[in-house]
Amino acid sequence: MTNAYKIAVLPGDAIGPEIMAQALRVFDVVRQHRDVEFELIECPFGASAYFSHGQAFPEETKVVCDQVDAILKGPVGLSHAESLKIPVEEQAERGAILPLRARYNTFANFRPIFLSKDMAHFSPLKPEIIRDGIDILLIRELVGGLYFGAKERGTNDAGLRYVKETLEYDEAQIRQVQRVAFEQAQLRKKRLHNIHKSNVLLSSVLWNEVLEEVRVDYPDVEVVHLLVDAAATALCLNPGQFDVMVMENMFGDILSDQGGGILGSLGLMPSACIGPDKAYYEPSHGSAPDIAGQNIANPYSMIGSVAMMLEMSFAMADESRAVWDAMRSVFEAGYSTADLSAGGSAKVVSTDEFGDRVMARLDELLAN
Ligand code: IPM
Ligand code: MG
Repeated sequence: MTNAYKIAVLPGDAIGPEIMAQALRVFDVVRQHRDVEFELIECPFGASAYFSHGQAFPEETKVVCDQVDAILKGPVGLSHAESLKIPVEEQAERGAILPLRARYNTFANFRPIFLSKDMAHFSPLKPEIIRDGIDILLIRELVGGLYFGAKERGTNDAGLRYVKETLEYDEAQIRQVQRVAFEQAQLRKKRLHNIHKSNVLLSSVLWNEVLEEVRVDYPDVEVVHLLVDAAATALCLNPGQFDVMVMENMFGDILSDQGGGILGSLGLMPSACIGPDKAYYEPSHGSAPDIAGQNIANPYSMIGSVAMMLEMSFAMADESRAVWDAMRSVFEAGYSTADLSAGGSAKVVSTDEFGDRVMARLDELLAN
């Protein structure tokens, strides 16, 4: 029987539609070689949706997302000047991304920080630091903490403007994401770095208490505790020590961008956002309005998000691996995209051309 999957496609803003166009080609190549059907339903989302539909996350998009098997989301948001034309609560981050995460309770955010040895020239780190490449799975809690806590602003008794934001977690929220991280550690090198700030934050004290309880169920996983500030340094000086890392929402937002930094570009950062019943997939980066429409954006993170969807939502691990291998083979053959500084001999290709080369290689890999 043919497997058939429904996917909501949210191309997003600025470079979103360009990189999405390349990512969607993966479904065409896969369906040519496998007994599988993908139904793609394009929906408005983000700043463009605000202008066309009056809402950054329109009702019709919610209806489609509720029905589908998985959601593929491009980057959203406009330049600072353009964003000012949109009311604060409808700006793409607050009006679209956070509500999408909340709606499907996508509490576990998988952000692979991966660079093969033969792609090491893209990294700003020295070869003796990178050694055999970088292979880290950063797991970020995605629906709690400061980004979702109660907020208040006003003027205090002294007449000064003030703001108050709340960092709140309960033990169940902490436990569920930590379990996911331990499970991933078991599937990988059985080492989990627990990233926290328990020397200052009470939320980290509770986080660590819960971790001590959870780890009992995963006796084969070695736990290494590391303060978040020290982790930032360690990612630059010795990324090879990390395998799986787990942390709360804001720490994960910041350290995952640093992950893009040690790879050489945020364009190399796809992600998966996993909830109990629904998952969505997106690049970790923004919509880069400054380079939109020029056919120079790197579609790797968008194509990689499809690779993650194939594996995590549709159990197509071999096909997912082929997508990764196809992208690697293009870079390893000496090509690069404009965001990557690859040194003298590399040939810089456009968004489309990178897509062409990846799809040609994927076609070969799936034919065998
Ligand atoms: C990310 C982004 C988002 C976040 C923004 C756009 C709301 O930076 O996915 O890392 O902070 O989570
Ligand atoms: Mg971020």
